[in-house]
Amino acid sequence: MREYEVNNRGNLVFGGCDTVALAKEYGTPLYVIDEEYLRAKCREIRETFLEKYPNTKAVYASKALQTLEVCRVIKEEGLGFDTVSGGEVFTALKAGVEPETMVFHGNNKTLDEIEFAVKNNVGRFVVDNEYELENIGIIAKKLGKTVKVQIRITPGIDSHTHEYISTAKIDSKFGVFCEGETRDSIIGKAIDNPSIELMGFHCHVGSQLMDNQDHMMALPIVLNMVKEVNERFGFAPSELNLGGGFGIRYVDSEQETRVADFTDPMMEEINGFFAENKLPVPTIYIEPGRWIAGNAGITLYTVGSIKEIKGIKTYLAVDGGMPDNPRKILYGAEYEAVTANRAAVPANKQFSIVGKCCESGDVLIDKCNLAENTVSGDILAVFATGAYNYSMASNYNRVPRPALVMVKSGKARLSVRRETYEDMILREI
Ligand code: LLP
Repeated sequence: MREYEVNNRGNLVFGGCDTVALAKEYGTPLYVIDEEYLRAKCREIRETFLEKYPNTKAVYASKALQTLEVCRVIKEEGLGFDTVSGGEVFTALKAGVEPETMVFHGNNKTLDEIEFAVKNNVGRFVVDNEYELENIGIIAKKLGKTVKVQIRITPGIDSHTHEYISTAKIDSKFGVFCEGETRDSIIGKAIDNPSIELMGFHCHVGSQLMDNQDHMMALPIVLNMVKEVNERFGFAPSELNLGGGFGIRYVDSEQETRVADFTDPMMEEINGFFAENKLPVPTIYIEPGRWIAGNAGITLYTVGSIKEIKGIKTYLAVDGGMPDNPRKILYGAEYEAVTANRAAVPANKQFSIVGKCCESGDVLIDKCNLAENTVSGDILAVFATGAYNYSMASNYNRVPRPALVMVKSGKARLSVRRETYEDMILREI
């Protein structure tokens, strides 16, 4: 969450806009994305990472939040794109993103996806396994192209985050372990394949990490591997991709993180290692998603039924829930909220905020203090929903997906229209 502003009507202001007016104009539930905030985060990455260290790249993890407009904004700010499916590649291309700036991820890219990305000259493939490597080789040869790849490796550490978003353990569906035969086999094949150009390695430790502990634990393992691979194959990487995972402040008790908290210590270690080993310093990539988009967004809901169970709790139900934000039910994620039309009133009554789905687990916030005079018809704003909400939304219970508006310096524009009932049956034959 971010420190929030309240106007003289007592309404929550976001991106310079009165959120109650937004709810009235565009309806609820409503995703609201602050363009200036997206730009400011990209600027921080430019100023404290890209411009500070030569030979660095930042690619935005589209999975956090991807729309055509978000792509255009991020592109204008000078970042590339981490994509993870044919759909994400397609959307970025449609938005005018240069394919060379795209990095294509995924542990099971289909043949169609590979062909689509190769045909469209996507800049890098992060290869997950040998089966994929072979397929890229075959498809690249058929199309008469050479594909630049980074091999995804897992350093075998257990990151300090939710099990579902921890990706660097030995027991992981992603990548190849950084030691042993499987590693040597895939590297050897990548080097030998004339349709493939091996650029280096990729490692992503996990997501929503609030300090650099895991990144700093993984880095020496990756660097040690670089050394071993150099000794064995005479191969020095020209690129090293260190993934994303930089955490954000969801609730009051958490601290804001700076990108430099992660990148400065990593760059120091990297520069030291390559100097010591007399190897050229590779281009270093980072792949932040949540850190850019998370606090760029809020979700507005209309308060519906309020049900007090004497001596137990007061349920406050909103017109959305797990279809527009499945993070609580999936990861036990925590959020903060405010009654947007009573934002200046002290929040001194505890509510349990729930969604409208036919499922007891459809809770948005277990315990949330709101203005005690909050009533049905009020507008509720949930903070820090910019990442992994719109992108993970579903039609569960045939609830149409919300609209998405972009706000910028007091002006709002509809960016994604609200889904209709008709939309939901459109593909049915
Ligand atoms: N790079 C790779 C290879 C990744 O797998 C991910 C996230 C990222 C970058 C971006 O991570 P970020 O900077 O956003 O932490 N749905 C979950 C998060 C899943 C993240 C998966 N990979 C959630 O809602 O918390």
